[in-house]
Amino acid sequence: MTRLNWGMIGGGEGSQIGPAHRLGAGLDGEFAFVAGALDHRPEAGRDYGRRLGLVPDRAYGDWREMLEGERGRADRVDLVTVATPNSTHFEITREFLKAGFHVLCEKPMTMTVGEGEEIVALARETGRICAVNYGYSGYSLVRHMKAMVARGDLGRIRLVLAEFAHGHHADAADADNPRVRWRYDPAQAGVSAQFADCGIHALHMASFVTGQEVERLSADTVSCIESRVLEDDAMVNFRMSGGTVGRLWTSSVAIGRQHGLTLQVFGEKGGLRWAQEQPNQLFWMPLGQRLQVIERGEAGLSPEADRTTRVTIGHAEGMPLAFANIYKDLAEAIRARKEGRDMDPSADLYPRAEDGLRSMAAVFAVAESGQADGQWIDARPPMFR
Ligand code: NAI
Repeated sequence: MTRLNWGMIGGGEGSQIGPAHRLGAGLDGEFAFVAGALDHRPEAGRDYGRRLGLVPDRAYGDWREMLEGERGRADRVDLVTVATPNSTHFEITREFLKAGFHVLCEKPMTMTVGEGEEIVALARETGRICAVNYGYSGYSLVRHMKAMVARGDLGRIRLVLAEFAHGHHADAADADNPRVRWRYDPAQAGVSAQFADCGIHALHMASFVTGQEVERLSADTVSCIESRVLEDDAMVNFRMSGGTVGRLWTSSVAIGRQHGLTLQVFGEKGGLRWAQEQPNQLFWMPLGQRLQVIERGEAGLSPEADRTTRVTIGHAEGMPLAFANIYKDLAEAIRARKEGRDMDPSADLYPRAEDGLRSMAAVFAVAESGQADGQWIDARPPMFR
């Protein structure tokens, strides 16, 4: 099996998310890291790329140079990851899709709903893959939750409760630190801060696991630290396409919370609870029975869970391995296209541009509802209404 060629934009030295992508893409030997424009400073990007093993003419100074350099090569990259700051995602993703590359874009995919619709339309028109890195959907037990819901173990899903609450921006004395301040400044962050940054992961997870879309929502958004214009805490009620009632809490002032992504699903026949900080256990409470702990890697799980676990039961698997599962899905999707065959359905689970667009519509709906005292707002993108 020859490896697929992979390139990366952003994710330079010291970046938060770059290493998790490099670990994830490299883990199964599916992708070879061959090209990159890793930093907003051209020389730093070239230098770091070379230190990571890129040949000098593929350690690019910026993404336009990379686009020009790669488009003419016979061994051009099969997949490009965009891991730059949010406001650059749209333009970079659009240009690489137009040039015929498959793209994995970091979240949020775009800054506006209109841009999101453009990316969805472009991906459909070009027939290229445009995935969005809702990487937490790659966890093996999240895949298993989805499979349990789909095969009816819980019956009809009544309620879903999603949280992504941390306490890392809770220090009022540090709120003016430029590294924190920009996130709550509409000129730099857009219409939403905490919901757009973290809430959309929880919302995507609710949709991913239930297999339902968010249709309308009502939001209570607040800035607990008063100098902030954008919200640092939000409580969002929503309704889903299959009739499920949704509740979501996201916060950046929840002192004592670290990552805080948690999902609970309650159906007619049982309830599930999974937390990102203990991702190797899934709590399953069948109606009228005892609480059961499902362990990642145990026998008898769904094919979706079996396919996405690598390390023996009892040994922790974490976030870069969840990202690796998104890359594993994408490798299968790219290979299936190259070989002209259908892809393995248990791998066809990577988050799409459509998910990125739905998140963006939800971000704008939360902002609008928050300003209108919690008024219920249609959360669907116009093109999906
Ligand atoms: P960061 O600020 O730590 O790193 C950004 C990197 O991109 C830096 O190396 C910078 O030099 C480089 N860069 C900036 N502009 C560039 C350009 N025009 N061309 C090439 N490189 C450029 O940011 P962080 O935290 O790594 O976030 C990056 C993206 O990843 C954001 O969109 C963020 O929302 C997303 N993210 C996603 C997570 C997830 O769980 N899916 C978790 C954390 C971040």
